[in-house]
Parts: sequence; C-alpha cells; structure tokens
Amino acid sequence: WPEAVVRVQSLSDSGVKRIPECYVKPIDDRPSLLIDDDDSSNQSNSNSNINIPVIDLGGVYSEDNRVRKRSMEMVSEACREWGLFQVVNHGVREELMEAARRVWREFFSLPMEMKQEYANTPETYEGYGSRVGVEKGAKLDWSDYFFLHFLPLSLRNPSKWPANPHSCRSLYIYFLYLPAQLINVIEIYIKALVAIDDRELVREYNEEVLKVCGKLMKILSVNLGLEEDYLENAFGGDQIGTSLRVNFYPKCPQPDLTLGISPHSDPGGLTVLLPDDHVSGLQVRKDDVWLTVKPIPNAFIINLADQLQVVSNAQYKSVEHRVIVSSNHDRVSLAFFYNPRGDILIEPAKQLLLTNNEAPLYQPMTFNDYRTFIRLNGLHGKSQVDSLKSPP
Ligand code: OGA
Ligand code: NI
Repeated sequence: WPEAVVRVQSLSDSGVKRIPECYVKPIDDRPSLLIDDDDSSNQSNSNSNINIPVIDLGGVYSEDNRVRKRSMEMVSEACREWGLFQVVNHGVREELMEAARRVWREFFSLPMEMKQEYANTPETYEGYGSRVGVEKGAKLDWSDYFFLHFLPLSLRNPSKWPANPHSCRSLYIYFLYLPAQLINVIEIYIKALVAIDDRELVREYNEEVLKVCGKLMKILSVNLGLEEDYLENAFGGDQIGTSLRVNFYPKCPQPDLTLGISPHSDPGGLTVLLPDDHVSGLQVRKDDVWLTVKPIPNAFIINLADQLQVVSNAQYKSVEHRVIVSSNHDRVSLAFFYNPRGDILIEPAKQLLLTNNEAPLYQPMTFNDYRTFIRLNGLHGKSQVDSLKSPP
C-alpha cells in the first residue's frame, strides 16, 4: 500500500470527534443528510415514496403464464430503468442469510490484532482491507472490508477466510477447573471445529447466492432476446469468477463530510447485495438525484454491473451507487460479485447487434485488464465503463 494502512474501525473506536482530512470529501461530493440517524428516515431523497423495484422471483417460475410473463417484464423494466432492484422469493433460506450476517459481524468484532492477521495487499486484494486503489494521497472512504475469492476454484483458498474464535467463548466457562495445558489442547481443537463451521457457512452462502445469479443470468438473457445460456457462456461458462466483499462501515462522528463508499458502478457482471438488516446506507443515482435504498426484510439487492452494460450494448446500464454512513450505527453488508472469466474478451453480443441493427458501443476488453485499471485508479463513478466507448 502507498501509505500506512489505517483501520477505519480503529479510528471510530478511538472516539475522534473530527475525521482526518483524507476522509473529508470535496463539498460537491458530500452527501446531503437532511434527516440522519433515525433508521426509518436516514435518507437524502426528499421524496421518500420513491423506492427501487421489488420483484418476486417466484413469479418467473409460476404455473400461470400471465404471472410468468408479467414477472419477466418487471425484471426487464427494472434492468432498463434502474439497473437495480430487490428480489424476494429468491430461494436462499432466511436462516442462512442471518447466519452469514452473524459470522461476518463476529469477524469485525474481533480484536484488531486478530483481524490484522488477515491484512490484504494490492496484489490480490484478498483479506482484510481498508482502501481500493493505490494512488498516494487519495481521498479515502469510511469503511473496512473483507474480500475473498470463491470461483474459479483455483483461486478459492478457505484457509484465508476468517475462522472465528468468538463463537466458542461461551464454552470457556466449562474449562475453568481444568489444568491450563488441557485447556490449550481443547481450545485448539474447538477453534479448528468452529473454523470449519464458519468457513463451511460462508461456502454454503456463496453457493446459494451463486444459484440466484444463475437464475438471473438466464432471465436477463431471455429478456434481451438471446439464448437462455447466452450471458453465462459469454462470461465464461463454468469458468466465471465470483467473489465476496463484506463491507463494514463504522460509526462516523461527521457523516455529512464523508462517504462509506464513493460513487462507483461495480466492474463485473452482476452484484447480489445482502444489506444490513437494521441500518440503510446504500444510495443510487437516479436522474441525478441520490436515492436511499430501503431494504425489504429477507430481500437481496441486485445491481447490474459494467460488463452487462457492455454485453447488452447499453440496453442495460450499470447502476452508479455509493454508501452514506451514520454517527449512531455501524453497518455490515455482503456484496457477492458475479464476474466474467478474467481472460476472455467481453464485447457487445453479436446476435443482439444483428437483431437490433446496432453498431457496437464498446470495444472488446478482458475483465482482467478492466479490473486492473480500477484497482490502480480507485473508484470514480462510471468513468471506467464510459471510457470503453468505441470511437464514433
Ligand atoms: C460494493 C457496494 C454497497 C453497500 O461493495 O461494491 O457497493 O451497501 N456496497 O455496502
Ligand atoms: Ni458497489
């Protein structure tokens, strides 16, 4: 990293009253928090009735033709007009969603020395991190995160995933009367067991969310007038990439001066976000206004990313979003990224160009090259995907 890494959580816990200069955004980029820090109303949108579309994914598989057709249309509209929607009836068990949240909350509540063992580097980004981009002196965001690879299997390394000793704390009481050495042995054993448990849970969560991505890829393909498997294959079939980024947004003494994540669109194909169940914070830019998303219980937030914009030749647009923070509550979110395989060229679908008699708006590029660009330069709204535009 270009500078010593500062954990935002440590800053927050230290009780600073003013945030360091590097987190203070230029005036135009600051959120306008009209009413903040009340769970039901921390939004900067004056029209609180606007919310992003909610789609019952079950409807797509209904026996009733009309329901199926209507549901497909709703997805299509949401993709064209928003690039963002919530889904319910997505097939992932509620308990699994809750357990995943719990495991990650536990990770972020570990003592700092333990989290530091997972510190990441700009080479792979895997592990515990506090910034994206390596530009020296860059403005930073008010968040820490944990990033891990899930697919391809060759990149999956569960030994780098958190193993959570917290969960067995409550058992220690039974050990009080045992000799110290024996306690050590038992502790090592239990830690190993718990590690397996937590990693298995993260694996299962990812596996289930991946299924949701698979369903959505098919739905989006059909809606674009392509073969059902088109998008999945265009992204590399069984060689697609997936990863999980868990964001932790600590309490912030001056939430009106900074952001939890700066405006960006996600670089890959699609993102499935499990938001915090108590605190909102995600905002999307719609017609130049930042709207706060109000999560529905047990829903996922689906967000279209840059490579879908490219393949669909901008029929679908990736959604620009950012995160605001709060002075009263911290917040945890799990973002699952569904990405193209790194080394194949991603370009507008030929079939789609033919059918619609369109010229390609984007030049072919591999996702590896695209992502490297972002990891060097940090997040800057939608400038990356826009810079891909073919010369007229
Ligand atoms: C992300 C992201 C939003 C959130 O991780 O890319 O946009 O609500 N997260 O945490
Ligand atoms: Ni994002």
